[in-house]
Amino acid sequence: MSDLYSRVDSYFEEALVGDELQYARDAAHAAGLPAIEVSPCQAKFLHLMAKGAKRILEVGTLGGYSGIWLTRALANGGKLVTLEVDPKHAEVARANFTKAGIADRAEVIVGKAIDNLPKLEGPFDFVFIDADKPSNADYFAHALRMSRPGTIIIVDNVVRGGKVADPSQTDANVEGVRRLLELLKTEKRVSATAVQTVGSKGHDGFVMAVVGG
Ligand code: SAH
Ligand code: DHB
Ligand code: MG
Repeated sequence: MSDLYSRVDSYFEEALVGDELQYARDAAHAAGLPAIEVSPCQAKFLHLMAKGAKRILEVGTLGGYSGIWLTRALANGGKLVTLEVDPKHAEVARANFTKAGIADRAEVIVGKAIDNLPKLEGPFDFVFIDADKPSNADYFAHALRMSRPGTIIIVDNVVRGGKVADPSQTDANVEGVRRLLELLKTEKRVSATAVQTVGSKGHDGFVMAVVGG
């Protein structure tokens, strides 16, 4: 099945996205970073959702692949702030940002996201949460604190092959998604949904939330 998902993903990628940023993915893989960045079609999706944003926050930089796509969605004068715990990942991301010509508007902050988020101030127009999954709800709470009406918050990897809906699965990543869903259930300020995805990264999905007025 995942072979079929990959083939169709490649087909859409070729038709709609292109491989102009393959160098950024290659640089990250060559430096030994795990190949867990969003797929090209997913990156373009994030880009389209973020289009015209003035300030974008990302939690979980890796080699900067999603960060480049997000930065390219910014309005003139806009800025991406992306948080990364691993200094090596941050170094690769900064090099990729330089290669992409966006280093002047894409800032990598190194350290645990939970230590740096309280130091940031909003508003952010778009937030992409894609770091350690057990902290999803904490990151979401900070995203909400720094939001304005209309802010879009997207959280990656909420499906993980369906584990989230299987009560016998209780690993920390799955529990992290469930904690986020519990928060969303009671949080009156946001309206949310989840969209499953299949493709080169198998079966996964995003939570998407919009902050109300
Ligand atoms: N958004 C990237 C992929 C991020 S992978 C892309 O699609 O291109 C997840 C990243 O989160 C990894 O680089 C990992 O080092 C980082 N991370 C894990 N725990 C973290 C934490 N506590 N604070 C900040 N970053 C963290
Ligand atoms: C994995 C995928 C991701 O998109 C991520 O952010 C973390 C881990 C994975 O496939 O293991
Ligand atoms: Mg992810």
